[in-house]
Amino acid sequence: MNEVQRIAIVDPSDATREPLRNLLLGVESVWLEAECSRYEFFIDVARQSCPDCVVIALDADHHKALKLIGQLTLESPNMPILAVSSRGDGQSILGALRSGAKEFLTAPVVLEELMLALQRLRTNRATSNGDINTNVNGNSRGESLVVSIVGSKGGVGCTSVAINLGCAMAQDARYNVALVDLDLALGDADVVLDLIPDYTLADVAMNVDRLDMQFLRRSLCKHESGLSLLPHPVQMEDISLIHDEHLGRVIGLLRASYSHLIFDLSKRFVPTDLTAMRMSDVILVVAQLELTSLRNVVRMLHTMDKEEGLGEKVKVVMNRVGSDESDITLEKAQETIGKPIYWQLPNEYKAMLGARNAGQPLMTHAPKSRVHLSLVGLANALCGKSAEPAKKERRSFFSFR
Ligand SMILES: Nc1ncnc2c1ncn2[C@@H]1O[C@H](COP(=O)(O)OP(=O)(O)OP(=O)(O)O)[C@@H](O)[C@H]1O
Ligand SMILES: [Mg+2]
Repeated sequence: MNEVQRIAIVDPSDATREPLRNLLLGVESVWLEAECSRYEFFIDVARQSCPDCVVIALDADHHKALKLIGQLTLESPNMPILAVSSRGDGQSILGALRSGAKEFLTAPVVLEELMLALQRLRTNRATSNGDINTNVNGNSRGESLVVSIVGSKGGVGCTSVAINLGCAMAQDARYNVALVDLDLALGDADVVLDLIPDYTLADVAMNVDRLDMQFLRRSLCKHESGLSLLPHPVQMEDISLIHDEHLGRVIGLLRASYSHLIFDLSKRFVPTDLTAMRMSDVILVVAQLELTSLRNVVRMLHTMDKEEGLGEKVKVVMNRVGSDESDITLEKAQETIGKPIYWQLPNEYKAMLGARNAGQPLMTHAPKSRVHLSLVGLANALCGKSAEPAKKERRSFFSFR
């Protein structure tokens, strides 16, 4: 699926704005971020909506429109600007390009030409932005980091990892982090965070064809840590409303609004889980030093390795290391799995259970616990930062390769 391109459009004439708007809405990869009918207000609209691309119709007032293009270019020299006019003569085109427009289309705009122009603008922007602040996957800051969390058996710690990882990431003011509970039947992310959301994934899926930015943002419930949550459906029968193709579109749109997405998956490998994994940058497989769990990691890796691009995203997280119940060593586990253990989380029953019972994340309930610090270290490592808090910990809990 294409990356979503968030577009802001300005055209004072209703007669031309409507068809242009409808054309844009027909492009699968386009998200209409903002629409404006006054050239004078558009600078503010663009500042607030931070679009990936702007479309400026010139015909209502060429002079004002070209002035606006100049202002936008001065403010953000890399902003992709597409100018549209029914006057396709050389002078009009030159005027728009000299003011700073990167592309020009003659109205009435044809869909194929629009798509090609948007594609060129996207490619040029990616090249001119360069690669800044890369995370574990080599993504640049402009792209979101998508992490799926899947367990190798029930109760292995997926939801605990997902919630606390999300809250840890949300502490960075530059990040916009959302967690989607894809354990559609029995998920409990809302309970763990003690949230009673108004909307669920079922509402979003049902409205997928007419989703707009405001509706999508309103559908997520914000926790005081800064983490936004999209919970699983309340009614079990609503699960059937959520198809994997809906989810693909929802994930695409969420990527346009959030810098970090975390999916708490079911343990059933159903189509929605697979769609989420395919659209993720990283798949954290949570395991424990226990026979069934390790055997299932081997089976999961075997299945994922069969699909191109899936197996290589997997990172194994060993949870509850140090538990008395285990007599399998980390070395033995690594040998069995045939893959390095990316991260180890200590067993800390009291902190985990206390946080669960209090409906709070570890950062609030047990901020000094080793398991919290280790999860912050994991969040930092995934975001391409140094795993700073981990340094205070015993080395053995922070092997990362
Ligand atoms: N590192 C840890 N130390 C101690 N207890 C833990 C740790 N991680 C998770 N737990 C506990 O294990 C239990 C199961 O955790 P959690 O619900 O996160 O697992 P899950 O894989 O999401 O389960 P489910 O299969 O039900 O979705 C919880 O009671 C949690 O408090
Ligand atoms: Mg769970």
